[in-house]
Amino acid sequence: MSLPEQILAIQSAALEQVTTVGSVRDLEDWRVRYLGRKGELAGAISQLGAVSSDERRAAGQAANGAKAALQEAHSAKLAELKVSAKQDNALDVTLPGIAPVVGGLHLTRHTLYEIIRIFTGMGFTVFETNEVESDEYNFGLLNLPPDHPARDMWDTMYVSDDVVLRTHTSPGQIRAMRQFNPEPLRVILPGKCHRYEAVDASHESMFYQVEGLAVGEGITLASLKGVFEAFAQQMFGSDRKVRFRGSYFPFTEPSVEIDITCNCLGAGCAVCKGTGWLEVSGGGMVHPTVVRNGGYDPDIVSGFAFGMGVERNAMLRHGIDDIRHFYANDLRFLKQFA
Ligand code: PHE
Repeated sequence: MSLPEQILAIQSAALEQVTTVGSVRDLEDWRVRYLGRKGELAGAISQLGAVSSDERRAAGQAANGAKAALQEAHSAKLAELKVSAKQDNALDVTLPGIAPVVGGLHLTRHTLYEIIRIFTGMGFTVFETNEVESDEYNFGLLNLPPDHPARDMWDTMYVSDDVVLRTHTSPGQIRAMRQFNPEPLRVILPGKCHRYEAVDASHESMFYQVEGLAVGEGITLASLKGVFEAFAQQMFGSDRKVRFRGSYFPFTEPSVEIDITCNCLGAGCAVCKGTGWLEVSGGGMVHPTVVRNGGYDPDIVSGFAFGMGVERNAMLRHGIDDIRHFYANDLRFLKQFA
């Protein structure tokens, strides 16, 4: 066989064999065998000097052609193997990674934890009670007998005639007192509340409240003011002040609305509508009837209570103007706080 014929034979043997290669490692063996420095093609080329000049010219051309054909076969095979490796889900360390999606706390939960952290720091414990309540606990024992006109303050979702979705966390006051009496108590009652309400920028039919309750000897409205001021300063900023405005709740006497100073300090902004004050909570001294319903003697002990909206706290802290954002499940909103 002449040298050009030998080279063509190497080429066709190599091209035939490459079709059977099934892995990158086999392909490398194939490359070393035919295209390597000591491979078959190099072996044939090393004989160029030993043949006649005509044969050398033909052999040179054949060698160039063979080399190009084998290199092309090599890269085609390599690409093919990579595609099938991807289809087999094999790890391709050259691909960029996929970052796992990390979840975060919902703004309501985050705010609730913050409130809990502040009050537990002042010696309050968390006491969780029923979300579905009897009419008696939600109203009756809170000094709101059936047909009491003040029941209209809460638009109520009824489960049945005498079972409701709690409209506020205040029924937990009775449950906590009945569990703790006659010991003094300091608790906060966080939880979900429901109201049969037309939804708008400041009203949701489902929202969270945190109730605070302290019962013991010598507790006064000044105790409530001190506790609330400490809360407001940790929650909203150390320069915040608290004021009470007279109000009415059947289960507190006297009753107050609790305001804190606005960020703008009275300069007049949209959040406080220029008044300089923000209403954050209802509260007051626990009504003697309610103290008695909790199993304590109102001649010996007194108590303060307050109830505030968790979403409202978050809205005031972050300048959110619409409570409907909270449960619309729009990630563009939620991710800002996660
Ligand atoms: N429960 C009242 C409400 O939801 C708030 C409140 C709680 C007022 C405790 C006084 C004392 O409106």
